[in-house]
Amino acid sequence: MDRRDFLKNSAGAGLSLAITDSVHQQVKAEKLQDRKALRIGFIGVGGRGTALLNTAFAAASIKVPAICDNQKAHAERAAAIVVKNGQPRPQLYTEGDYAYREMLKRDDLDAVIIATPWRWHVPMTVESMQQGTTAAVEVPCALSVEGCWELINTTEKTGVPFMMLENWSYRKDNLAVLNMVRAGLFGEIMHVHCAHSHDCIDHWFFDKKTGKDLWPAEYLIKYNRDQYPTHSVGPVLSWLDINCGDRFVSISSTATASRSINDHFLRRFGPDHPGTKRTYAQGDIVTSTIKTAQGKTVIVNYDMQMPRPYDNRWLLQGTHGVYNEQRDGVYLVDQSPKFHQWEPFKPYEEKYLHSWWKEGGLGTHGGVDGIQLKQFFEAVSHKNTLPLDIYDSVTMSVIVGLSGESISKGSVPIEFPDFTKGKWKTRAPHFAVEKKV
Ligand SMILES: NC(=O)c1ccc[n+]([C@@H]2O[C@H](COP(=O)([O-])OP(=O)(O)OC[C@H]3O[C@@H](n4cnc5c(N)ncnc54)[C@H](O)[C@@H]3O)[C@@H](O)[C@H]2O)c1
Repeated sequence: MDRRDFLKNSAGAGLSLAITDSVHQQVKAEKLQDRKALRIGFIGVGGRGTALLNTAFAAASIKVPAICDNQKAHAERAAAIVVKNGQPRPQLYTEGDYAYREMLKRDDLDAVIIATPWRWHVPMTVESMQQGTTAAVEVPCALSVEGCWELINTTEKTGVPFMMLENWSYRKDNLAVLNMVRAGLFGEIMHVHCAHSHDCIDHWFFDKKTGKDLWPAEYLIKYNRDQYPTHSVGPVLSWLDINCGDRFVSISSTATASRSINDHFLRRFGPDHPGTKRTYAQGDIVTSTIKTAQGKTVIVNYDMQMPRPYDNRWLLQGTHGVYNEQRDGVYLVDQSPKFHQWEPFKPYEEKYLHSWWKEGGLGTHGGVDGIQLKQFFEAVSHKNTLPLDIYDSVTMSVIVGLSGESISKGSVPIEFPDFTKGKWKTRAPHFAVEKKV
């Protein structure tokens, strides 16, 4: 029996009035509840977008009324996830590459999550902001200096924010290190090493079974650069107060010759496969040295084609001590129990646990993705500044284009644009700053 039938069948005006009141209250409460739940649209629901969609439901009580993907099967798969989460079937936008424009015309979306191939990140994020909708976009948010400026100029002009979904910045260990840095345990941080060593050759760049090019393959064929710098550099920005007290000023990059892609094809598919015979621009390992205005240095390794287990090799060195992620170790002068000997990092991770991790992680990538989305949703719903700074988002991403330019010019240092236009000197740190209790 629905509400109307129930009222019609109820005997007596008094009872009917009382019930009408309580029904109205219930409807009002539902509407309030409805308004409280953020409405999130998804653009791109392939591997990453699907993981984010599942994690989004675990992270917050959201509604997903709209999904866009130019592959209908992907959009349908995502719609089934939404329905499985007890919501009405979302409207799907699947007709061609620009269907997202129709979706962005809706006026009921509080934010969109963009997880499409790289070349779409700038236009989709810019057009979201122009339509007044906050965007969270996958990594890297742009591939060139011009793309980065377009994002910054649009957000400054429209007043609509965007954020890059750089998830490794939210890792439990990296946030504990950030709290230790801010507590002054390492003294002044002078140098950081980091890497993105992630062998993606046989499932992300090329099809596992056939060796066919997937969309990221194009970049290995055409460019020689750090294709994916944000996972390595992400946490480093806040450790070094980049864009809030210091800034990256120059990058010098060098690349090995390109061997391992051809070697992969030869091993897996034999000498006659087109992948074996083709020439690739991308070197196997790219090493970049970044200098900061305050005289600090960062070494970044890009390494995504060689056979190996996953690794980030974060190492942070300050005037009072050192943290080494690979060793899971810390050494602090005059504090560590044994002279020049590592002590375990775990007790520090617990002591300096970031408040975002107090209730544990959520969703994919060891719980990191849910923490990131929860922070994003909370900021959108309270109209607060988004957790990851716009300037940090572009500073990490611009390494793609700048490293390529440096390599092509014989490793000469290339200047970083100052996206903050001088504000880095006076801006206060923003990312993951603990609230004072
Ligand atoms: N942060 C992380 O941990 C992480 C992990 C994996 C991928 N990523 C990033 O996520 C993004 C997507 O990567 P992926 O591995 O999911 O790729 P994918 O190919 O699996 O998914 C991309 C999806 O976008 C859709 N798409 C392409 N063009 C479109 C358009 N014009 N309009 C609408 N939909 C379109 C495709 O149909 C596909 O479903 C990339 O930027 C990648 O770098 C991030």
